[in-house]
Amino acid sequence: MPGKSQLSEISREEAAAEVLSLWEESHYSLRTAMGQLAKEWKITDWRIRTAIHSLVFETVRRLNTIDYVLNSVLEKTTVTDLDSLTRNTLRIAAYLILFGEGIPALATNEAVSIIKRRRNKRLAGLGNAVLRKVQQTDLNTIIQMTSIEEKNTLQYSAPQWLFEYAEQLLGFHEVREFFSASLQSPSLYIRINTLHNKAESTIERLEKQEFQCTPTPHLPEIYKVQRGTQPVIQTNLYAQNTIYVQSLASALVSRILNPKRESIIVDLCAAPGSKTSHLAQLMENHGNIIAIDNIPVRTQELKRNLTRLGVRNTHILLANSFKLPFRKDFQVDSVLVDPPCSNTGVIQTRPEVKWTMTPELVRRLTKVQKNLLQTGSQIVAPDGHIVYSTCSITLDENEHLIREFLDTNKDYELVPTKPLLGSPAFEELVYCQRLFPHKQDTEGFFIAKLHKKLELNH
Ligand SMILES: C[S@@+](CC[C@H](N)C(=O)[O-])C[C@H]1O[C@@H](n2cnc3c(N)ncnc32)[C@H](O)[C@@H]1O
Repeated sequence: MPGKSQLSEISREEAAAEVLSLWEESHYSLRTAMGQLAKEWKITDWRIRTAIHSLVFETVRRLNTIDYVLNSVLEKTTVTDLDSLTRNTLRIAAYLILFGEGIPALATNEAVSIIKRRRNKRLAGLGNAVLRKVQQTDLNTIIQMTSIEEKNTLQYSAPQWLFEYAEQLLGFHEVREFFSASLQSPSLYIRINTLHNKAESTIERLEKQEFQCTPTPHLPEIYKVQRGTQPVIQTNLYAQNTIYVQSLASALVSRILNPKRESIIVDLCAAPGSKTSHLAQLMENHGNIIAIDNIPVRTQELKRNLTRLGVRNTHILLANSFKLPFRKDFQVDSVLVDPPCSNTGVIQTRPEVKWTMTPELVRRLTKVQKNLLQTGSQIVAPDGHIVYSTCSITLDENEHLIREFLDTNKDYELVPTKPLLGSPAFEELVYCQRLFPHKQDTEGFFIAKLHKKLELNH
């Protein structure tokens, strides 16, 4: 891996290949791998960072399609058999040739020169031969010659199991819209942190800096932002913590919980704190939030975020929410359950999920989610609420789980999730909401609101 001082000597293609290699060799998310190397390389110029980020994310969005093409022109070997740096350099170049806007021959030359310098002449020769063939490939023609199943997964760069699952759920046309939308860069939403400043003055200041800000219905603190001449996170408003980047769907969750000023709330899965800090803002720093997470580094990140955003009504607990460390008679007004999930609704922002999530992992996550919801339900006072949310599209993590919970917890009932920005959920759970990138221009989310009845009437 190039040392810190060497970034200036390497191209964005080489840097992107390094990020992909780190992602493959670690358990990091793509974003963490990118952040880690950007920090190591001390990238201060946002233009360079954005260029590398975009190359990495675009390549991973199309990873199966790119690998398919590379494998079709590789003789006697496959992409998986190549060493990590060579493989990822070829992937980046193939992305640029097949989907990029630059000159294909330049992408080939750059990749060959990286492989020659970092590996050897023999591999560089192989890379050269392979990429020249990729240059001659007509992707659409290749895709048309594959089986129906392969055609869908290659055209929409989707894993077969997820495409088939989503097709059952959404139907023939919508599944294609969902995966097409997931190949685009996501729209950017910000939350005005009213703990630090007023929404109107913040928007005025952003517009003066040439950002186009559009209000969103029912969420007065959330704006859609058209990217200006610089990324919003480079602005002084971001540095001053007056704005926070948060998707529309994620922000809807705290609004649906609808805390009162003096509410007592437990957030069972709080880090990194997007929803906790939003709740605190809606409560104007009154009441009490207990924000729990079981991973030490994530709890530290939660603390940093809450501190910088000016949250003062929250106690952070490093604990396992399966076993809450409260007295038996402890009761709260509301519980937020935003558990770890398959992230299948956020493949636009986390494209690597397409290649790492499996049906078996979904099953395991579902057990965790059920457990967390059940534990949370035990500390809600009569007439209190639970809001349950995931950024997953599967029924098991959402509708089925809620249905099963209601069957075994007769003291709870579903209530409407308001405001309604999404579509009614599946399986007749019309009080719950679903949001999708192709429909609501935001992350794929499921949100349910459960009310603990005052008296148990069967
Ligand atoms: C989807 S994320 C939460 C995102 C957060 N609500 C937000 O809006 O920023 C799920 C979180 O649950 C935490 N978690 C997973 N299992 C847990 C458990 N048994 N107890 C407490 N936290 C847990 C994870 O560490 C992770 O930070």
